[in-house]
Amino acid sequence: MNWKTRITDLLNITYPIIQGGLAHLAYADLAAAVSNAGGLGQITAMSLPNPEALQKEIQKVKQMTDRPFGVNFAIGQHGRLYEQMVEVAIAEKVPAISVTGGNPKGVLDMVKEHPIKKLVLVAARRQAEKAEKLGADAVMVVGQEGGGHLGRADTGTIVLTPQVADHVSIPVVASGGIIDGKGLMAALSLGAEGVELGTRFIATKECVHAHETYKQAILDADEHATVIIKKTLGTPARALRNSWTDQILQLEAEGKAFEELREYIDGHANKQYIHKGNADSGFGWAGQGAAGIQDIPSVQDLIHSMISEAEEIRNKWSL
Ligand SMILES: Cc1cc2nc3c(=O)[nH]c(=O)nc-3n(C[C@H](O)[C@H](O)[C@H](O)COP(=O)(O)O)c2cc1C
Repeated sequence: MNWKTRITDLLNITYPIIQGGLAHLAYADLAAAVSNAGGLGQITAMSLPNPEALQKEIQKVKQMTDRPFGVNFAIGQHGRLYEQMVEVAIAEKVPAISVTGGNPKGVLDMVKEHPIKKLVLVAARRQAEKAEKLGADAVMVVGQEGGGHLGRADTGTIVLTPQVADHVSIPVVASGGIIDGKGLMAALSLGAEGVELGTRFIATKECVHAHETYKQAILDADEHATVIIKKTLGTPARALRNSWTDQILQLEAEGKAFEELREYIDGHANKQYIHKGNADSGFGWAGQGAAGIQDIPSVQDLIHSMISEAEEIRNKWSL
């Protein structure tokens, strides 16, 4: 089957599958594995301490693959450090960037004159229309099933994707809850031309920074296993439910402000769980799709099984 879409053309990849930015998890090993398997792998800039570290990580990816890859910028919480990080991405001539967590204008303006493909994450139709006007080459629509930070409107992927696809002319990538070939075919049916996966890529062999406890929790997850925290702060995000997220939700219910929640929701608490496996003293982001994840394959095997499942579905319905 031919997997050519405007997303594969734009990014020069074989399959319309993008690995989402994954804070403190998406480094060179994972990104290169996804790109080598025919998708677009990404490293997450803001998980790295400084621009020099980003430059090294980009160079590492280049040594591990000659395929296109991307660098993800979550610009919200890091002051203006991201600008220096973007300068590094430009100097290293990375094939693609993705932007989330705030107004993408600054980043899009910085890379405008460079041959870098610009993907913007959105969670609402109006954000998508704005991203298109600002010069994005594609938008990635994240529905509320997804892991990590979400839109404020609780809109699911199945509603959001066609809402956006019908109102922008640039290609759309669907994200949130997609873990397999079924999700890929559903996304294409909804008007998307590619998919972005986050949680599914954590449970792979090449996601070497994810602790076994975290991966096992994803395997053990059922449809009740995730919760949305930080809603009261205006920055909702989906995590695996554990005693730590129960405490966060309790504090939120008591009306606690950011300062009182900070130590529960910061990068340190996140790393306690995802790097060290201390599930009682930290949290790990994951999407509802975790309920359908049963194995820890190599990235290559995962992408192959997604594609063959999608092809089986297509053949079934074309009879
Ligand atoms: C552990 C984790 C960390 C994430 N960190 C980032 C990030 O740094 N930047 C970003 O743009 N998105 C981030 N996301 C969101 C993903 O890129 C992606 O949009 C989301 O995981 C899609 O939903 P899914 O998990 O159901 O596949 C993160 C998601 C997870 C699960």
